[in-house]
Order: sequence, then structure tokens, then C-alpha cells
Amino acid sequence: MVNPADRADRKQEQLERRRVRPDDTRLTTDQGIRVDDTDNSLSAGERGPSLMDDFHLREKITHFDHERIPERVVHARGAGAYGHFRLHDSLAEYTTADFLCDTARTTPVFVRFSTVAGSRGSADTVRDVRGFATKFYTRQGNFDLVGNNMPVFFIQDGIKFPDFVHAVKPEPPNEIPQASSAHDTLWDFVQLQPETMHMMMWLMSDRALPRSYAMMQGFGVHTFRFVNAEGRATFVKFHWKPRLGTHSLAWDETQKIAGKDPDFNRRDLWDRIDAGDFPEYDLCVQLVPVEDEHRFDFDLLDPTKIIPEEEVPARPVGTLTLDRNPTNFFAETEQVAFHLGNVVPGIDFTNDPLLQARLFSYLDTQLIRLGGPNFPQIPVNRPVVEVRNHHRDGYHQMDLHEGRASYHKNSLSGGCPAVGGEGSFTHYQERVDGHKIRKRSESFADHYSQATLFWNSMADWEKEHIVGAFRFELGKCEHRHIREGVVGHLNHVDHDLAVQVAAGVGVEAPAAPATPNHGRGSPALSQANSATDSVRGRKIAILAADGVDSAA
Ligand code: HEM
Repeated sequence: MVNPADRADRKQEQLERRRVRPDDTRLTTDQGIRVDDTDNSLSAGERGPSLMDDFHLREKITHFDHERIPERVVHARGAGAYGHFRLHDSLAEYTTADFLCDTARTTPVFVRFSTVAGSRGSADTVRDVRGFATKFYTRQGNFDLVGNNMPVFFIQDGIKFPDFVHAVKPEPPNEIPQASSAHDTLWDFVQLQPETMHMMMWLMSDRALPRSYAMMQGFGVHTFRFVNAEGRATFVKFHWKPRLGTHSLAWDETQKIAGKDPDFNRRDLWDRIDAGDFPEYDLCVQLVPVEDEHRFDFDLLDPTKIIPEEEVPARPVGTLTLDRNPTNFFAETEQVAFHLGNVVPGIDFTNDPLLQARLFSYLDTQLIRLGGPNFPQIPVNRPVVEVRNHHRDGYHQMDLHEGRASYHKNSLSGGCPAVGGEGSFTHYQERVDGHKIRKRSESFADHYSQATLFWNSMADWEKEHIVGAFRFELGKCEHRHIREGVVGHLNHVDHDLAVQVAAGVGVEAPAAPATPNHGRGSPALSQANSATDSVRGRKIAILAADGVDSAA
């Protein structure tokens, strides 16, 4: 017999109990009092002042006054859908996460796609990274895979995230520009932080203009860790590959669509699901044995690097199908709270310094965005398994906890939740030692090789689009020294690219660099660079797999 927690519709059953359907019964106040008139306020005489006695007027307006919550500090604009994940290929050899072990199991999910920089009401088709966040309601609790549609990130350490986001968001004096990469502060950040170069290549490519959320890849970005029943760890990178292939809009299309239908991607997702044309994605994993941690010419903990699929193939293990639109945008898509720290037994973190900062950030921001510590009780966030702990009180507490004792251990309440035992989360026992220092490892110092790898893997027309994007976006930057600085970095990615961009942004073409990648670094780094050189010129499989197509 199927365990109720394994059924794909388990989450929908849980939500069903909270749904309030439109009907023609009587209008009431929040207190359940039937209302006699909701169009005229109570007043002293037909033309007189409104009266404080009018509790219906006060309640109706007060509720309206408090309808807005803060938008997400990043990824404010999004669209969500429910679906399910079906496992085809068991990973039991690597992990105890049972939604990845038992091929008979179907796991309900909620996915939210988003842009990053724009506000809640901004247009969908801007040049930007897209979020691809998935909440798996597993029978071991919620697992959130909070990824993007690009496999790397702008910065290596989360301590720079506030700086980066301040540089990307509209400027403080006038809130200009809205959701644009044509931005002095962004380019200033880029020229002063060369670790951004690999991600900037992706951002200037057609990957930043997805045609449809159903035609977009997703990446967990960081290296995570699987842990199996024997406690053995394996490094893992997660990827989503859309069944429809990866397709982009052409730049001119995005400009017109942003004016004609700013909801283009959101509408497309809704309409596909409504029409039964369900978006599907394969979950793929790249697995690296712990013994191979230092085998690569980059650091596995560096989130500005991919693992080329020629070196570690992406193995498809299951399929995600999005088959149900939300009932209420605010209740579900806006109130959903993803958190990189929501992991289940068998999935653990690594010491990637970007990942580590994210572990702090999501819960912290959700405490203010969703008004206190009880947001996990909001229907879309609730796990499908029972929650039992001694957390009590706080704003918007929805549960009625019974019993005198709200502490561990206790012998008074007629039961105390057991701690430990089979199925409980045990952190991977990694040996860690070192001095407390603020210094990034030299193994993170190569900022150009994979940017070059990306450039070399592009077809001629893709290269044209990238050059065009740099010219358009960087060309808007008022400050010559910033444009020169960025072109200087591009020169270490590819001289020809730098020359072409320079010609379009009003700066002198740089001389070819004396040594590839500026000849920087330690012996370890030189080794890294030469090893990476060996894969230059090949199409990276992450890109080649589906063939990035654009309507150009
Ligand atoms: C939101 C992805 C880095 C802080 C999001 C969302 C995604 C995402 C997909 C939207 C979630 C949703 O739909 O509700 C990523 C990826 C990163 C990254 C893939 C790098 C690999 C960071 C870093 C920080 C951060 C370094 C902070 C140190 C936030 C915050 C939100 C957010 C505060 C808003 C969350 C909310 O209000 O619910 N991120 N992010 N992110 N991210 Fe990140």
C-alpha cells in the first residue's frame, strides 16, 4: 500500500483544506458578522461625517491598508507552479535522501521562476539571470533546490552579496535604471571584481533572455554533498534540463515584448499548464568522489566555475513535471519561502563561501518579509509530514499546541518528541582545521579561464550577440575609466572579443596580453591555466547538450 506521504497529490490534499472558494453565501466581517451594506459608510445624516461606530468600514479599510508585504530583496518578480518529481534512476548508492532512492516514489513540488534585479512589477523579458527554485515536499521533510538558470555566480564569497546587489539595483538618488544591465554601478563593480567575468559572459549571452520558463535550464550552482547509508560522501552538482530544449529570445524581440506584454514568461507558464502542455525537466547530477576533490584545474568550492560535462557527465535521474497553476498568487507564489538550508538526510553542504553565506541569508530575510518566525506554517511552505517541536508563540501562530511542557526533555505533557534515531538528519562529519583568517584560497584566483572556455564554445552568431550585448549595455556607462576597465578584463578572456567591444564603447582597443590570462598567479594557478587551456576551443557540454537556440 502506498504511504500517504508518498502520493503526488498529498500536497494538494493538504492545501485543499485551506482553499476558500467563491460562493454566494452572505458577506461577513472577519468576525463572522453578516454585513447589511458594504457600499455606504455609516454617517451622521446623508451628507454628514462618517462615524467611528462603523466597524465594517474600519475593518475593511484597515485590512486593505495592510495588504502589502515587502517584496523579496532580490528575485522579487516571479511566477510559480505545482508539480511532481518522478525518480527513474536510484541514487541509493550515494545518498539516503529517499526521494532520490526509491523509483516507485513521486514527490510533490512547488517551483518559482524569477528575474533577479527588477521589482515585483517589472517586465519579464529583461536581460537578467533567472531564478529556478524548487521545493520538494518529501516524506523526510522539505528539500529546497534554490538555483538559477546559469551554472555559475557573480561572486565567490557571500560577504560581497550586499555590495553586488547594491551595484545591480537601481541607484539610490533616483531609482534609475530599472531592471537593466546598462548600469554604471554594475559595470563599476564588475571592473573592480574580476571574479564576475565568467558570469558576465553568461549574462551577456542569450541565456539571459529565455524564451520560456519551459525552455530554460536550472542549476544548483554550488557543489553539494551526498551522504549514503554508510556515511560515505560524494560531491554533487544539480542540473535541470528542459525536455523542450534550451531556447532564447532574440534581443529585439525582448524589447518589443517588454512593451507589449510585460508578463510574457509568466503568461506562457500559466497558459501551458492551463492547456495541459506541462513543462518537463530532467534532473541531472554530476557526481565526484571525495578522493577526486583536488583533481580539477579549479576549486570545486568556487561557485564561479562549472565542472565541464566532458570531465564529469551529467547523469539524468528523474523528471519534474509542472502540472498545476496556483490558486492564489499572493498566498502561494509570493509567500513561498525557499531556503538553501532546507535539506533532508543524505544531502549536505560544502564549504563553498557563497553557499555558507546563503545559509544565513534566506531565513533571516524571510523573518521580516513574511512577518515573524511562523511562516513555515503558511500552507505553501508546510511540509507534507508532521512537524513536532517546542517552538511556540510568535506572530501569526496558527497551531494550537496542547500540554504544559514546551521544553525538551519533559515528563509532564504526556509525550515528548523523540530525538535522534533512524531517519534523523546527521551532519556529515567533515574534519576541519585551520587558522581564523580573512583570505580566499589561491585556488579561487583564476577568473578568466572558464570565461574563455565559455567564449570559445560559442558559435559565430552567439559571439555576435555577446559582443552586441556588451556594446549596448557597457556602452551606456558614462565613465570612460569603467568601460576601459571592463575591456581590460575582456582582453584576458579573449583579445578579439575585447577589440570588438572596445570599438563599440568608445575606448581604445587594448594590445594583446603578453601571456594568456595575464600570466597571474602561483605555480598551482599556472598549472590550472595550462590545464584549462587543454579544453579551450571545445563546446562545453553544459551548452552543447540541447543546443542553445535563439530566434535570431
Ligand atoms: C532569493 C538563487 C546567491 C540571498 C533567491 C531566489 C533564488 C536565488 C532562485 C528566489 C527564491 C524565490 O523564488 O523565492 C540564488 C543563487 C545564488 C544566490 C543560485 C548563488 C549561487 C545568494 C547570496 C545571497 C542570497 C550569496 C546572500 C548572501 C537571497 C535573498 C533572497 C534570494 C535574501 C530573497 C529570499 C526571500 O525573500 O524569500 N536566490 N541566490 N542569494 N537570495 Fe539568492
